[in-house]
Amino acid sequence: MHRRQFLRNAAMASFASTFVSRGKAAPQADALIELLAEESPGVISPLLYGQFTEHIGGVIYDGVWVGERSKIRNYHGIRAELVDRLKEIQVPIIRWPGGCFADSYNWRDGVGPAAKRPRHTNFWEVDPDAQRLHEQGAQIFETNEFGTDEFARFCKLTGAEPYLAANVRSLPALEFDNWVEYCNSPAGSTSLAELRAEGGSRDPFNVRWWGVGNESWGCGGNFLPEDYASEFRRYATWIPSFGLDLQLVGSGPNDNDLDWTNRFFEQIFASPHPYSNPHFRGWSVHHYSARHEQALRFDDASWYQVLKECDQIEQIIEDQWAAMGRYDKEHSVRLVVDEYGPWYVEGTEVDPTHIFGQQVTVRDALATALTLDIFNRHPEKVCMGTNAQLVNNINALFLCHEEKFLATPNYYVFGMYAGHQGGKTLRANFSTPNIHYVYEGESASLWGMNGSASRKENVITVTAVNPDVHSPKLTRVKLRGANIQQASGTALFAADMHAHNTFEEPTNVQPSSLRTDLRGGEVTLTVPPGSVIKLQLTVK
Ligand code: AHR
Repeated sequence: MHRRQFLRNAAMASFASTFVSRGKAAPQADALIELLAEESPGVISPLLYGQFTEHIGGVIYDGVWVGERSKIRNYHGIRAELVDRLKEIQVPIIRWPGGCFADSYNWRDGVGPAAKRPRHTNFWEVDPDAQRLHEQGAQIFETNEFGTDEFARFCKLTGAEPYLAANVRSLPALEFDNWVEYCNSPAGSTSLAELRAEGGSRDPFNVRWWGVGNESWGCGGNFLPEDYASEFRRYATWIPSFGLDLQLVGSGPNDNDLDWTNRFFEQIFASPHPYSNPHFRGWSVHHYSARHEQALRFDDASWYQVLKECDQIEQIIEDQWAAMGRYDKEHSVRLVVDEYGPWYVEGTEVDPTHIFGQQVTVRDALATALTLDIFNRHPEKVCMGTNAQLVNNINALFLCHEEKFLATPNYYVFGMYAGHQGGKTLRANFSTPNIHYVYEGESASLWGMNGSASRKENVITVTAVNPDVHSPKLTRVKLRGANIQQASGTALFAADMHAHNTFEEPTNVQPSSLRTDLRGGEVTLTVPPGSVIKLQLTVK
C-alpha cells in the first residue's frame, strides 16, 4: 500500500480493518516492537525536552518579546500565545542569551530601568544573512529591552528553569560571579540584589544551570582546548552559590570532535594538577544537519539524508561519553546537547529580519522526534537537551511575525513526547528492514523504524518514527514483564512530504488519533508512512 492509498484509507477511518480482519489470524507484520517492562537503564531527565533562545533575528524581538505596549496579547511584554503553548508541552528549561551572542553580551546592559539601557551592535550584525535586515532593526542594534529580568519572567510564566550562558570570550571572570550574584543573592543582601529589586524582582531567580561560554572552539573565543580548559578552571572556580547546587556546563565539541573533548578532559582530570569542582556537571555538544538547500525543496533521497544526519547524534553521544569516561572515571559530567536540528539555507523565513529563520516540515518533525528518542535511550549519558531554536529560527516550534503566529510540526512532537519526562526508560527493540536509497550518487541506508519507550507507574509511553516516505508499516507491539490492559495511539504525518504549517493554514500538519488493536496481549497498528507515532499503554 502506498502513501496516497494509505491516506485515503486513513481518511475513511477504516485502515485498522484493512490489516486485521475479525476472526482471522493477523497477517505477518512489517515491523515488531518488543518492550521489556522491567529493564531500565535510567530515568529520563525532564530537562531533555528544553528549548534554546538567542538574541538573533526574530527569536527574542518579534518572537518572545513584543513589548508591554504591544497590541499583541502579552504578559508584561512577553508574547502570551507562546507562553500558553509552552505550558501545554511542559517546557522544562530554556537556554539564553546565546549561542554566539552570549560571548559578546554584557549582562549589565540588560538590567536596570529599560529606558536607560544602552544600545549595542548585535553579534550577528557581521553575518551575511544580516545584510538583508533593516538598518535600524533591533536585530542589528541590540536595544537590551529584553534582559535578565525579562528572561527570568519568561521562564517563570512558562514554568521552565533558566539556563544562562556566560560570556568567556569578552568579559572578565568577575562579571560571571556578579551575574550569578545578581540572579541568586538573597533579597536585600547585596547591591546587585537591590538592583534586581528595583527591576521588580525582589526574590532571587535561583538560576542553577550556567554555561561557561558557548562554542569556545569557534565564535566563543577560538580557543585551543588546553587554553579553554585554563579559562574554564578560572571562570568556574569559587562562583558564589547562595546555597544552590550550581550546575556548570563546559563548552564541548562541535559534532563529534573527539580531539576537543580528549584534550580538554585531560587538562581537567588528568593533568599533574587536576581540577576538581563538584559543580562541573555538563559537557555541551552541538549537532546540526547543515544543508545547502531550502527547507521546502527536497526529494526522497534528501528526506532520508537529513534524518540520517540527525541520527548521527547517537554515535556522537556514545563516542563522547566513552572519551569523557577515560578521564572522568565516575562520569560526574554528563552530556548536554544544547543545540541541534536540521539547518537549511535562507529563503523560507516568515520575515526578512529573521536570521536563520526557516520553515519546518513534517520531515523536520521526524528529525526532532528521532533525536528525542535517542536522548531517551541514553538517560544515563544525556542530562539535558535544548532545541535550536524555539521560535523564528533553525528548528523552530513556532513561527510568528507581529500578530501572526503558528505552531510548527515540531511543537506537536514535543507535545506527543512530553509523557516521557521523568519516566524510566525501558529497553525496546524495533525490528524492521532498513531503507536503502542513493544520495548524490552514493548508496546509503537508514533504519526502517526506531523509537523509545518509558514507564511511569502503570503507563508505558512508546514513541517511534517511520521514516519510510511511501509505505506504512503494519506493526506488532509485544510487552514482556507486564500485561497490556489498554492501548491508544497518536500519529503526526501528512499526505505531502513537504507539508508544513503557514499563517493561512496553521493546522495543516497536526497529530491525529491512530487506531490500535489490542488482542491476545499484543497491540497491532499501522504506522503511517513518514510519521511520528505515540502509543500509550496501560499495563498491570
Ligand atoms: O543557533 C545558531 C548558532 O549556531 C548559535 O548561535 C551558535 O552557537 C551555533 O553555531
